[in-house]
Amino acid sequence: MSTGEILVTGGTGFIGSHCCVSLMKQGYRVVVVDNLSNSDAGVIDRIASITGSRPAFYIADVRNADEMDRVLRRHDISAAIHFAGLKAVGESVAVPLRYFDNNVGGTIALCQVLNTHGIKRLIFSSSATVYGAPDRVPVAEDAPLRPASPYGHSKAMVEQILADLSHADPEWRIGILRYFNPAGAHESGLIGESPRGTPNNLVPFLAQVAAGQRDALNIFGNDYPTPDGTGIRDYIHVMDLAEGHCAALEALLQGQPGFTVNLGSGRGHSVLDVVRAFEAACGHAIPCHHAPRRAGDVAEYYADPSRAMTLLGWESRRDLESICRDAWHSQCRQSNGASQR
Ligand code: NAD
Ligand code: WQD
Repeated sequence: MSTGEILVTGGTGFIGSHCCVSLMKQGYRVVVVDNLSNSDAGVIDRIASITGSRPAFYIADVRNADEMDRVLRRHDISAAIHFAGLKAVGESVAVPLRYFDNNVGGTIALCQVLNTHGIKRLIFSSSATVYGAPDRVPVAEDAPLRPASPYGHSKAMVEQILADLSHADPEWRIGILRYFNPAGAHESGLIGESPRGTPNNLVPFLAQVAAGQRDALNIFGNDYPTPDGTGIRDYIHVMDLAEGHCAALEALLQGQPGFTVNLGSGRGHSVLDVVRAFEAACGHAIPCHHAPRRAGDVAEYYADPSRAMTLLGWESRRDLESICRDAWHSQCRQSNGASQR
């Protein structure tokens, strides 16, 4: 499938940039919009190095209707993938209005301008955070939604808004993708996760400790009811995630009605599993300390990914070892000056 231009909001960010690579490898022409609030324009050069062609790129905010209108007038967009948003759970507790404005307000503004241009195919980045503490694992899409932070609420609200929109106008076809724990990087190491400030997530934090940029990893909790006492999550390689978006896009463009689908590997790994896999990838021991549980963390969750296979023919292919190897490769390239920002 290679027709049409695809709008990618947040396309210079971590997941969006990898998705651009997958889309372009499949022959799609990509139009990136990003306000660079959490990324760098240099990512576009690195996407071009990997794929051999440059996506169109606009520095714009999805909440700015005039800017978005100008972009859409210049292109023949057949669908949008909406990554743009804020994602730090802790920050969302401190500044909830910023999260609702950007994540909820941004999506409403985007849908309005898409509607004006008759573009009614949309893929939305949701999160397993909408499930909160699940009653059971693996977590399937029909599990109750119990988000536990303003960030999580913003994702659940957008899901509801999009459901109401497609109910009101069945021409809209919307794919909601709930990601579990994305990690890793493109195998080239040219793009990856390069968080500003202290990383919130385990894998980028571990990468910085392994590179000597931080002293030690704090392992949050070793008394969970899990085999080794540390938290269990479903880590999914970012390139698997990117390919999941291509499968979702393909389905929408071929006329499949909207869907809500988990994107996870279906496998749970503990914090200690991840530390061991990262030590194998970087070739040396990583200093770790035990620390108290982090507020809001749950003991264990991982996806039931079967709906993604049934509806989209997609499943993750890369394992924890690949995630750590590629994250480490990307970290080394960043440390060596091939900065991702
Ligand atoms: P990211 O911060 O790396 O990328 C988001 C991009 O959106 C950034 O480049 C940022 O500059 C841009 N952006 C933010 N607000 C914008 C706006 N109003 N207008 C235009 N651009 C804007 O984050 P990511 O990890 O790539 O996440 C992408 C999406 O996936 C987010 O919606 C996030 O909530 C969701 N998600 C992420 C994870 C994760 O663990 N990384 C898990 C589940 C869901
Ligand atoms: C993973 C495990 C920690 C850091 C978050 C968001 C979720 C989604 C994915 C956006 C847990 C432990 C971590 C550290 C540690 N993002 N840990 N020391 O919390 O599962 O999910 O990212 O939608 O919404 O909440 O991911 O990577 O922070 O933590 O021990 O320094 O690693 O306790 O068990 P989390 P994480």
